[in-house]
Amino acid sequence: MSEAVQELESVAGKYAAEAIKQDGQGARGIAITNYQRAIEALIRLIHLFPENTLNAVYQQHCEQYQKRISELQNSSDNTSPNENNGNNNGSSQGNSNQTVSNNNFDNMIIKEKPNVSWREVIGLEDVKTALRESIVYPARKPELFTLGWPRGILLYGPPGCGKTMLAAATASEIAGYFINVDAASMMSKWLGDAEKNVSKLFHMARDTSKRENTSVIMLIDEVDSLLGNSQNENGGEIRVKNQFLTEMDGINDKGKNLQTYVIAATNKPWKLDWAFLRRFSKRVYIPLPSLEARENLFSLYLAKLKKDSSVNSVELAQLTEGHSASDIRDICQSAQLSVIDEYFSMADSKGDKDLTHVKLRDCTMDDFKKIIKKRKPSVNQGMIQEYTNWTRDFSAL
Ligand SMILES: Nc1ncnc2c1ncn2[C@@H]1O[C@H](COP(=O)(O)OP(=O)(O)OP(=O)(O)O)[C@@H](O)[C@H]1O
Ligand SMILES: [Mg+2]
Repeated sequence: MSEAVQELESVAGKYAAEAIKQDGQGARGIAITNYQRAIEALIRLIHLFPENTLNAVYQQHCEQYQKRISELQNSSDNTSPNENNGNNNGSSQGNSNQTVSNNNFDNMIIKEKPNVSWREVIGLEDVKTALRESIVYPARKPELFTLGWPRGILLYGPPGCGKTMLAAATASEIAGYFINVDAASMMSKWLGDAEKNVSKLFHMARDTSKRENTSVIMLIDEVDSLLGNSQNENGGEIRVKNQFLTEMDGINDKGKNLQTYVIAATNKPWKLDWAFLRRFSKRVYIPLPSLEARENLFSLYLAKLKKDSSVNSVELAQLTEGHSASDIRDICQSAQLSVIDEYFSMADSKGDKDLTHVKLRDCTMDDFKKIIKKRKPSVNQGMIQEYTNWTRDFSAL
């Protein structure tokens, strides 16, 4: 998904940059058109990826552009664009945009105390052990660890198998703060200087940990995007990566006085280079759920579902080899939706507006089978092979 996001972002960015340039030159008509195109691209982005963490930022930009369009439309013909610049995207754009962007980034760092527990994370026992050894125990009794302990942990594997959930559960286990940032967003030009954002982020984590004398777990999602992709290499990405490595060294050197941990997560570990891997001395694979884990996942979601006795979690687990935990959640959700759909259609066809004469039927095993038949697992076998190969060469438990 993040490539499509980048593509649309860059389209929006190009229109916005054009608009701002033309606006500065007083070419009002064409500036308005380009502001509009930028807005359209951003809106499409928001609609296509409703869960993107950057949507609030795009929204803000849309509002700014809209405001500027109204100003341009309302200003009389002899107003020079410079007179309008005080509170808009005119030629002072460079600076004013920077301020907006920096605030945006600050707003995106969310510090929270999560309430997910280890018990809710199904399966992944080895991973839990690794996290206990490298975070939970040192946080509880740092003086036992005279040789120090690892601060950087890399979680890698296919999407939807619990990386984010595990990081949050670890923070909650040690009653620490959890800071979750998305590296792909951090690299977005809509959030200003990525290099500065990296140091701000680490500064905030260290500061919180010291000031409140508590542990802080930072989860950096999609960490591979910090290393950039060579297609749009402009030197910027190298500086961001170096900044990140320096910050990691800062944390690794601090000894037992600093309770800050960095968990990096990625679906593409092979994009990471050795300089990077060296800072993450624990590297843990989060695989697809096993047969047993799938059964437990189904039991978990089925418990909240109205179903008849044909629905059986053991059989469902057998039918869903290759599916991720979040696939399984989606399957259960779809089964419920299909029954609810039926319920409303039936009510509509009977003209039963207040839904008094229709009854919601139970989900059956057939409902599930139909859905599973239509859905492919979100991870393919080729990808799993790549993870296995990478694990053989680089995993470190
Ligand atoms: N091991 C698990 N036990 C229980 N639920 C899980 C597990 N893994 C995933 N889920 C469910 O799937 C959802 C998505 O999982 P999560 O966000 O942790 O995946 P992820 O590995 O971080 O994926 P991505 O690589 O896309 O970021 C969770 O909110 C949870 O509902
Ligand atoms: Mg995640």
